[in-house]
Amino acid sequence: MKVLITGGAGYIGSHTVLCLHEAGHDVVVLDNLSNSSVESLKRVGELTNKCAQFIEGDIRDEQLLNRIFNEHAFDAVIHFAGLKAVGESVARPDLYYDNNVNGSMVLMRAMKAAGVMRLVFSSSATVYGDPASLPITEDFPLSATNPYGWSKLMVEQVCRDAAVADENWQIALLRYFNPVGAHESGRIGEDPNDIPNNLMPFISQVAVGKRAELSVFGDDYDTHDGTGVRDYIHVMDLARGHLAALNYLPKQKGCEAYNLGTGNGYSVLDMVKAFETQNQVPVPYRIAPRRPGDIAACYANAGKAEQVLGWTATMTQDDMVRDTWRWQSHNPNGYK
Ligand code: NAD
Ligand code: UFG
Repeated sequence: MKVLITGGAGYIGSHTVLCLHEAGHDVVVLDNLSNSSVESLKRVGELTNKCAQFIEGDIRDEQLLNRIFNEHAFDAVIHFAGLKAVGESVARPDLYYDNNVNGSMVLMRAMKAAGVMRLVFSSSATVYGDPASLPITEDFPLSATNPYGWSKLMVEQVCRDAAVADENWQIALLRYFNPVGAHESGRIGEDPNDIPNNLMPFISQVAVGKRAELSVFGDDYDTHDGTGVRDYIHVMDLARGHLAALNYLPKQKGCEAYNLGTGNGYSVLDMVKAFETQNQVPVPYRIAPRRPGDIAACYANAGKAEQVLGWTATMTQDDMVRDTWRWQSHNPNGYK
Protein backbone atom coordinates (compact mmCIF):
# COMPACT_ATOMS: atom_id res chain seq x y z
CA MET A 1 0.00 0.00 0.00
CA LYS A 2 0.99 3.62 -0.39
CA VAL A 3 0.40 5.44 2.88
CA LEU A 4 0.57 9.09 3.94
CA ILE A 5 1.79 9.38 7.53
CA THR A 6 1.21 12.75 9.17
CA GLY A 7 3.48 13.40 12.15
CA GLY A 8 5.67 10.53 10.96
CA ALA A 9 8.92 12.10 12.22
CA GLY A 10 7.65 11.98 15.83
CA TYR A 11 7.96 9.31 18.50
CA ILE A 12 5.18 6.87 17.59
CA GLY A 13 5.17 7.91 13.94
CA SER A 14 8.85 7.07 13.32
CA HIS A 15 8.44 3.58 14.82
CA THR A 16 5.37 3.05 12.66
CA VAL A 17 7.21 4.16 9.52
CA LEU A 18 9.85 1.53 10.34
CA CYS A 19 7.20 -1.14 10.80
CA LEU A 20 5.47 -0.23 7.52
CA HIS A 21 8.79 -0.30 5.64
CA GLU A 22 9.49 -3.77 7.01
CA ALA A 23 6.04 -4.88 5.86
CA GLY A 24 6.80 -3.64 2.35
CA HIS A 25 4.59 -0.55 2.25
CA ASP A 26 5.48 2.77 0.60
CA VAL A 27 5.43 5.73 2.93
CA VAL A 28 5.25 9.50 2.50
CA VAL A 29 5.70 11.51 5.71
CA LEU A 30 4.20 14.97 6.21
CA ASP A 31 5.49 16.70 9.35
CA ASN A 32 6.04 20.35 10.31
CA LEU A 33 8.88 19.30 12.68
CA SER A 34 7.32 21.32 15.52
CA ASN A 35 8.17 18.49 17.93
CA SER A 36 10.63 16.31 16.03
CA SER A 37 13.62 16.24 13.72
CA VAL A 38 14.30 14.54 10.38
CA GLU A 39 17.12 12.64 12.08
CA SER A 40 14.51 10.08 13.24
CA LEU A 41 13.55 9.33 9.64
CA LYS A 42 17.18 9.24 8.55
CA ARG A 43 17.81 6.55 11.16
CA VAL A 44 14.67 4.63 10.16
CA GLY A 45 16.11 4.69 6.62
CA GLU A 46 19.40 3.25 7.91
CA LEU A 47 17.61 0.51 9.87
CA THR A 48 15.35 -0.56 6.99
CA ASN A 49 17.46 0.33 3.93
CA LYS A 50 14.45 2.21 2.65
CA CYS A 51 13.78 5.93 2.68
CA ALA A 52 10.39 7.44 3.33
CA GLN A 53 9.67 10.47 1.19
CA PHE A 54 9.61 13.42 3.57
CA ILE A 55 7.55 16.58 3.07
CA GLU A 56 8.04 19.38 5.57
CA GLY A 57 4.67 21.05 5.98
CA ASP A 58 1.60 21.57 8.10
CA ILE A 59 -1.63 19.56 8.07
CA ARG A 60 -3.53 22.86 8.24
CA ASP A 61 -2.11 23.93 4.87
CA GLU A 62 -4.98 22.84 2.62
CA GLN A 63 -3.30 23.86 -0.64
CA LEU A 64 -0.27 21.77 0.22
CA LEU A 65 -2.46 18.81 1.15
CA ASN A 66 -4.42 19.01 -2.10
CA ARG A 67 -1.14 19.10 -3.99
CA ILE A 68 0.21 16.06 -2.10
CA PHE A 69 -2.98 14.07 -2.75
CA ASN A 70 -2.83 15.03 -6.44
CA GLU A 71 0.77 13.88 -6.74
CA HIS A 72 0.40 10.53 -4.94
CA ALA A 73 -2.17 7.76 -5.21
CA PHE A 74 -2.56 6.95 -1.52
CA ASP A 75 -4.47 3.94 -0.27
CA ALA A 76 -4.72 5.25 3.29
CA VAL A 77 -3.60 7.88 5.79
CA ILE A 78 -2.21 7.33 9.29
CA HIS A 79 -2.71 10.56 11.19
CA PHE A 80 -0.33 11.17 14.12
CA ALA A 81 0.25 14.92 13.67
CA GLY A 82 -0.85 16.86 16.71
CA LEU A 83 0.20 18.53 19.92
CA LYS A 84 0.15 16.34 23.04
CA ALA A 85 1.20 18.23 26.19
CA VAL A 86 -1.74 18.27 28.62
CA GLY A 87 -0.45 21.23 30.70
CA GLU A 88 0.30 23.33 27.62
CA SER A 89 -3.19 22.60 26.33
CA VAL A 90 -4.69 24.16 29.48
CA ALA A 91 -2.57 27.29 28.99
CA ARG A 92 -3.08 27.51 25.20
CA PRO A 93 -6.36 25.80 24.28
CA ASP A 94 -6.50 27.81 21.04
CA LEU A 95 -3.31 26.12 19.82
CA TYR A 96 -4.69 22.66 20.59
CA TYR A 97 -8.09 23.16 18.97
CA ASP A 98 -6.50 24.72 15.90
CA ASN A 99 -3.70 22.20 15.47
CA ASN A 100 -5.49 19.01 16.51
CA VAL A 101 -9.14 19.62 15.60
CA ASN A 102 -8.96 22.10 12.74
CA GLY A 103 -5.86 20.32 11.37
CA SER A 104 -7.67 16.97 11.32
CA MET A 105 -10.67 18.53 9.58
CA VAL A 106 -8.49 20.09 6.89
CA LEU A 107 -6.80 16.72 6.39
CA MET A 108 -10.12 14.88 6.10
CA ARG A 109 -11.44 17.46 3.61
CA ALA A 110 -8.38 16.96 1.41
CA MET A 111 -8.71 13.17 1.74
CA LYS A 112 -12.35 13.24 0.70
CA ALA A 113 -11.63 15.55 -2.24
CA ALA A 114 -9.03 13.02 -3.42
CA GLY A 115 -11.26 10.03 -2.75
CA VAL A 116 -8.83 8.62 -0.13
CA MET A 117 -11.15 7.60 2.68
CA ARG A 118 -9.20 5.12 4.80
CA LEU A 119 -7.93 6.77 7.96
CA VAL A 120 -6.14 5.54 11.08
CA PHE A 121 -6.34 8.20 13.80
CA SER A 122 -4.20 8.54 16.95
CA SER A 123 -6.66 8.78 19.77
CA SER A 124 -5.94 8.20 23.43
CA ALA A 125 -7.18 6.49 26.56
CA THR A 126 -7.63 10.04 27.85
CA VAL A 127 -11.07 9.99 26.11
CA TYR A 128 -12.33 7.71 28.93
CA GLY A 129 -11.75 10.45 31.56
CA ASP A 130 -11.85 8.85 35.03
CA PRO A 131 -13.32 5.42 34.26
CA ALA A 132 -15.97 4.04 36.63
CA SER A 133 -14.48 0.53 36.48
CA LEU A 134 -11.56 -1.42 35.02
CA PRO A 135 -10.50 -2.77 32.58
CA ILE A 136 -11.80 -0.26 30.04
CA THR A 137 -13.73 -1.43 26.98
CA GLU A 138 -14.46 0.72 23.94
CA ASP A 139 -18.12 1.21 24.89
CA PHE A 140 -17.28 3.03 28.15
CA PRO A 141 -18.64 6.61 28.48
CA LEU A 142 -16.37 9.24 26.95
CA SER A 143 -15.30 12.48 28.63
CA ALA A 144 -12.40 14.89 28.87
CA THR A 145 -10.82 16.97 31.60
CA ASN A 146 -8.49 19.24 29.59
CA PRO A 147 -8.31 20.79 26.11
CA TYR A 148 -5.94 18.08 24.85
CA GLY A 149 -8.46 15.41 25.84
CA TRP A 150 -11.30 17.42 24.33
CA SER A 151 -9.37 17.79 21.08
CA LYS A 152 -9.10 13.97 20.81
CA LEU A 153 -12.75 13.52 21.69
CA MET A 154 -13.80 16.16 19.15
CA VAL A 155 -11.80 14.57 16.33
CA GLU A 156 -13.31 11.20 17.21
CA GLN A 157 -16.77 12.78 16.93
CA VAL A 158 -15.87 14.42 13.61
CA CYS A 159 -14.83 10.97 12.36
CA ARG A 160 -17.97 9.20 13.61
CA ASP A 161 -20.23 11.86 12.05
CA ALA A 162 -18.31 11.85 8.77
CA ALA A 163 -18.72 8.07 8.54
CA VAL A 164 -22.48 8.35 9.11
CA ALA A 165 -22.79 11.04 6.43
CA ASP A 166 -20.67 9.17 3.87
CA GLU A 167 -20.42 5.40 3.96
CA ASN A 168 -17.19 5.45 1.96
CA TRP A 169 -15.18 6.41 5.06
CA GLN A 170 -13.31 3.57 6.74
CA ILE A 171 -11.82 4.92 9.96
CA ALA A 172 -9.98 3.27 12.85
CA LEU A 173 -9.74 5.34 16.04
CA LEU A 174 -6.81 3.82 17.91
CA ARG A 175 -7.01 4.64 21.61
CA TYR A 176 -3.46 4.27 22.91
CA PHE A 177 -2.85 3.62 26.57
CA ASN A 178 0.66 4.66 27.75
CA PRO A 179 3.26 4.32 24.96
CA VAL A 180 6.81 3.68 26.21
CA GLY A 181 10.04 2.05 25.04
CA ALA A 182 11.98 2.36 21.83
CA HIS A 183 13.10 0.27 18.87
CA GLU A 184 15.41 -2.51 20.07
CA SER A 185 18.32 -1.07 18.07
CA GLY A 186 18.44 1.94 20.40
CA ARG A 187 18.65 4.17 17.29
CA ILE A 188 15.16 5.69 17.48
CA GLY A 189 13.11 6.59 20.55
CA GLU A 190 11.25 9.33 22.40
CA ASP A 191 13.01 12.70 22.41
CA PRO A 192 11.01 15.12 24.56
CA ASN A 193 11.69 18.86 24.51
CA ASP A 194 12.49 20.39 27.89
CA ILE A 195 11.41 18.61 31.06
CA PRO A 196 9.50 15.40 30.28
CA ASN A 197 5.86 15.27 31.45
CA ASN A 198 5.62 11.52 31.15
CA LEU A 199 6.93 8.93 33.55
CA MET A 200 9.26 6.80 31.41
CA PRO A 201 11.30 9.59 29.80
CA PHE A 202 11.60 11.17 33.25
CA ILE A 203 12.85 7.92 34.80
CA SER A 204 15.41 7.44 32.03
CA GLN A 205 16.67 11.04 32.31
CA VAL A 206 17.16 10.52 36.07
CA ALA A 207 18.99 7.26 35.40
CA VAL A 208 21.32 8.89 32.87
CA GLY A 209 22.09 11.73 35.31
CA LYS A 210 20.30 14.57 33.54
CA ARG A 211 17.86 15.02 36.46
CA ALA A 212 18.50 14.50 40.16
CA GLU A 213 15.43 12.50 41.13
CA LEU A 214 11.97 11.42 40.08
CA SER A 215 8.96 12.95 41.83
CA VAL A 216 6.40 10.21 42.37
CA PHE A 217 3.10 12.04 42.16
CA GLY A 218 1.13 10.65 45.10
CA ASP A 219 1.41 7.42 47.12
CA ASP A 220 -2.09 7.50 48.60
CA TYR A 221 -4.14 6.26 45.62
CA ASP A 222 -6.35 3.23 46.00
CA THR A 223 -3.86 0.94 44.20
CA HIS A 224 -1.65 -1.95 45.34
CA ASP A 225 1.18 0.34 46.51
CA GLY A 226 -0.60 3.71 46.56
CA THR A 227 1.04 5.04 43.36
CA GLY A 228 -0.77 5.55 40.04
CA VAL A 229 -1.39 2.50 37.84
CA ARG A 230 -1.23 2.62 34.03
CA ASP A 231 -1.25 0.28 31.06
CA TYR A 232 2.21 0.81 29.55
CA ILE A 233 2.54 -0.44 25.98
CA HIS A 234 5.77 -0.88 24.03
CA VAL A 235 5.94 1.53 21.09
CA MET A 236 6.82 -1.33 18.70
CA ASP A 237 3.65 -3.17 19.73
CA LEU A 238 1.79 0.07 19.09
CA ALA A 239 3.43 0.43 15.68
CA ARG A 240 2.32 -3.10 14.79
CA GLY A 241 -1.18 -2.16 15.93
CA HIS A 242 -1.22 0.50 13.20
CA LEU A 243 -0.15 -2.05 10.64
CA ALA A 244 -2.93 -4.39 11.77
CA ALA A 245 -5.50 -1.58 11.52
CA LEU A 246 -4.22 -0.61 8.08
CA ASN A 247 -4.57 -4.19 6.85
CA TYR A 248 -8.05 -4.54 8.33
CA LEU A 249 -9.53 -1.21 7.13
CA PRO A 250 -10.55 -2.41 3.64
CA LYS A 251 -12.89 -4.88 5.39
CA GLN A 252 -14.24 -2.44 7.96
CA LYS A 253 -17.46 -0.46 7.60
CA GLY A 254 -17.60 3.10 8.93
CA CYS A 255 -15.77 4.29 12.02
CA GLU A 256 -14.60 1.98 14.83
CA ALA A 257 -12.58 2.55 18.01
CA TYR A 258 -9.97 0.07 19.26
CA ASN A 259 -8.07 0.08 22.55
CA LEU A 260 -4.36 -0.51 22.10
CA GLY A 261 -3.00 -1.60 25.46
CA THR A 262 -1.63 -4.73 27.11
CA GLY A 263 -4.37 -5.13 29.72
CA ASN A 264 -1.73 -5.07 32.50
CA GLY A 265 -1.62 -2.30 35.07
CA TYR A 266 1.74 -1.32 36.58
CA SER A 267 2.26 1.30 39.29
CA VAL A 268 4.84 4.07 39.21
CA LEU A 269 6.97 2.17 41.72
CA ASP A 270 6.60 -1.08 39.73
CA MET A 271 8.09 0.74 36.73
CA VAL A 272 10.92 2.29 38.78
CA LYS A 273 11.84 -1.09 40.28
CA ALA A 274 11.68 -2.90 36.94
CA PHE A 275 13.89 -0.21 35.39
CA GLU A 276 16.47 -0.49 38.18
CA THR A 277 16.52 -4.29 38.20
CA GLN A 278 16.58 -4.85 34.45
CA ASN A 279 19.15 -2.15 33.71
CA GLN A 280 21.21 -2.30 36.91
CA VAL A 281 21.04 1.47 37.30
CA PRO A 282 19.65 3.44 40.27
CA VAL A 283 16.62 5.75 39.92
CA PRO A 284 16.45 7.99 43.00
CA TYR A 285 12.94 9.19 43.77
CA ARG A 286 10.90 10.99 46.38
CA ILE A 287 7.19 10.96 47.06
CA ALA A 288 5.55 14.24 45.98
CA PRO A 289 1.95 15.50 46.10
CA ARG A 290 -0.57 14.15 43.59
CA ARG A 291 -0.49 15.82 40.16
CA PRO A 292 -3.78 17.66 39.50
CA GLY A 293 -5.96 15.84 36.98
CA ASP A 294 -4.33 12.42 37.46
CA ILE A 295 -6.50 9.35 37.99
CA ALA A 296 -5.64 6.40 40.24
CA ALA A 297 -5.67 3.63 37.67
CA CYS A 298 -6.27 3.03 33.98
CA TYR A 299 -5.83 -0.14 31.95
CA ALA A 300 -7.36 -1.60 28.85
CA ASN A 301 -9.42 -4.51 27.80
CA ALA A 302 -7.83 -4.91 24.35
CA GLY A 303 -10.05 -7.83 23.36
CA LYS A 304 -11.67 -5.99 20.45
CA ALA A 305 -8.31 -5.28 18.79
CA GLU A 306 -7.43 -8.96 19.22
CA GLN A 307 -10.70 -10.32 17.85
CA VAL A 308 -11.18 -7.83 15.02
CA LEU A 309 -7.68 -6.70 14.04
CA GLY A 310 -5.90 -9.89 15.06
CA TRP A 311 -3.48 -7.82 17.14
CA THR A 312 -2.17 -8.28 20.68
CA ALA A 313 0.71 -6.70 22.52
CA THR A 314 3.57 -9.18 22.83
CA MET A 315 6.34 -7.20 24.52
CA THR A 316 6.90 -7.37 28.27
CA GLN A 317 7.56 -4.82 30.99
CA ASP A 318 11.23 -5.91 30.89
CA ASP A 319 11.34 -5.21 27.14
CA MET A 320 9.88 -1.75 27.79
CA VAL A 321 12.37 -0.69 30.46
CA ARG A 322 15.35 -2.32 28.69
CA ASP A 323 14.63 -0.64 25.33
CA THR A 324 13.91 2.73 26.96
CA TRP A 325 17.30 2.56 28.66
CA ARG A 326 19.17 1.43 25.54
CA TRP A 327 17.80 4.43 23.64
CA GLN A 328 18.45 6.89 26.50
CA SER A 329 21.95 5.66 27.36
CA HIS A 330 23.08 5.56 23.71
CA ASN A 331 21.52 8.95 22.96
CA PRO A 332 21.71 11.02 26.18
CA ASN A 333 20.71 14.13 24.24
CA GLY A 334 18.15 12.46 22.02
CA TYR A 335 18.60 13.30 18.33
CA LYS A 336 20.65 16.45 19.06
P1 NAD B 1 5.18 13.49 18.78
O1 NAD B 1 5.08 14.90 19.22
O2 NAD B 1 6.50 12.82 18.93
O3 NAD B 1 4.70 13.35 17.27
C1 NAD B 1 3.76 14.21 16.69
C2 NAD B 1 4.35 14.71 15.39
O4 NAD B 1 3.41 15.57 14.74
C3 NAD B 1 5.63 15.53 15.59
O5 NAD B 1 6.64 15.04 14.72
C4 NAD B 1 5.23 16.96 15.22
O6 NAD B 1 6.30 17.69 14.66
C5 NAD B 1 4.10 16.71 14.23
N1 NAD B 1 3.09 17.78 14.12
C6 NAD B 1 2.44 18.42 15.12
N2 NAD B 1 1.56 19.31 14.62
C7 NAD B 1 1.67 19.24 13.27
C8 NAD B 1 1.02 19.90 12.20
N3 NAD B 1 0.11 20.85 12.42
N4 NAD B 1 1.35 19.57 10.93
C9 NAD B 1 2.30 18.62 10.69
N5 NAD B 1 2.94 17.96 11.66
C10 NAD B 1 2.63 18.27 12.94
O7 NAD B 1 4.05 12.68 19.57
P2 NAD B 1 3.76 11.12 19.65
O8 NAD B 1 3.97 10.71 21.07
O9 NAD B 1 4.46 10.42 18.56
O10 NAD B 1 2.19 11.13 19.41
C11 NAD B 1 1.63 10.91 18.13
C12 NAD B 1 0.12 11.04 18.25
O11 NAD B 1 -0.36 10.11 19.22
C13 NAD B 1 -0.36 12.42 18.71
O12 NAD B 1 -1.54 12.75 18.02
C14 NAD B 1 -0.67 12.20 20.18
O13 NAD B 1 -1.66 13.07 20.64
C15 NAD B 1 -1.16 10.76 20.18
N6 NAD B 1 -1.01 10.08 21.48
C16 NAD B 1 0.22 10.06 22.08
C17 NAD B 1 0.34 9.45 23.33
C18 NAD B 1 1.68 9.45 24.04
O14 NAD B 1 1.70 9.28 25.28
N7 NAD B 1 2.80 9.61 23.36
C19 NAD B 1 -0.75 8.86 23.96
C20 NAD B 1 -1.97 8.86 23.29
C21 NAD B 1 -2.09 9.49 22.04
N1 UFG C 1 4.19 10.23 37.12
C1 UFG C 1 5.00 10.48 38.21
N2 UFG C 1 6.06 11.32 38.04
C2 UFG C 1 6.34 11.92 36.86
C3 UFG C 1 5.49 11.65 35.74
C4 UFG C 1 4.43 10.81 35.92
O1 UFG C 1 4.78 9.96 39.31
O2 UFG C 1 7.31 12.70 36.79
C5 UFG C 1 3.06 9.29 37.28
C6 UFG C 1 1.70 9.91 37.04
O3 UFG C 1 1.20 10.52 38.22
C7 UFG C 1 0.89 8.70 36.58
C8 UFG C 1 1.92 7.85 35.83
O4 UFG C 1 3.20 8.28 36.32
O5 UFG C 1 0.43 7.99 37.69
C9 UFG C 1 1.88 8.01 34.32
O6 UFG C 1 1.98 9.38 34.00
P1 UFG C 1 2.26 9.89 32.50
O7 UFG C 1 2.34 11.38 32.55
O8 UFG C 1 3.41 9.15 31.93
O9 UFG C 1 0.98 9.39 31.71
P2 UFG C 1 -0.56 9.74 31.91
O10 UFG C 1 -1.26 8.45 32.17
O11 UFG C 1 -0.76 10.83 32.87
O12 UFG C 1 -0.95 10.32 30.48
C10 UFG C 1 -0.58 9.64 29.27
C11 UFG C 1 -0.31 10.65 28.16
C12 UFG C 1 -1.57 11.38 27.80
C13 UFG C 1 -2.63 10.40 27.45
C14 UFG C 1 -2.82 9.43 28.59
C15 UFG C 1 -3.81 8.35 28.22
O13 UFG C 1 0.65 11.59 28.58
O14 UFG C 1 -1.33 12.17 26.66
O15 UFG C 1 -1.59 8.78 28.89
O16 UFG C 1 -3.44 7.78 27.01
F1 UFG C 1 -3.79 11.06 27.24
